Amino acid sequence: MVNEKTYIMLKPDAVKRRLIGEIVSRIEKKGYQITQAKLMTLDKKVIAEHYAHLLHKPFYPNLEAYMTSGPVFGMVVEGENVIAGMRQLMGPTNVYEALPGTIRGDYANNTTENIIHGSDCKEAATIEIKRFFG
Ligand code: TYD
Repeated sequence: MVNEKTYIMLKPDAVKRRLIGEIVSRIEKKGYQITQAKLMTLDKKVIAEHYAHLLHKPFYPNLEAYMTSGPVFGMVVEGENVIAGMRQLMGPTNVYEALPGTIRGDYANNTTENIIHGSDCKEAATIEIKRFFG
């Protein structure tokens, strides 16, 4: 058994649409444990760090505006194989490929406003947990 930690963030549309409880419930029902959580409003600097790999993309200004448009709900989630497991629960980045039954497939209609973030590997999880929880 490999116990892992990942950084999960419910994005501004999830908070505005009052979906925190519903999504947290899905994460808990899967058997994962939420060990830290907080609401926070992110500034442009932390978004530029978090999405440094996308700074050059044409959609970056939209992504920045969206991610700073309201509070996000950040969490540390723990469990067996949780990094890959959460990516599976979330569904793919492209919402048109996200099947019903996944969080993005069930709640998102737009690839930028896609409800949820989850670390994509162990290294990213360590960096992101430090970035948002210190
Ligand atoms: P990325 O890190 O590629 O995916 P993920 O969030 O699944 O790890 O992209 C980060 C965010 O950037 C993504 O959640 C939404 C936004 N984005 C777009 O708006 N358009 C795009 O074409 C892509 C690839 C991402």
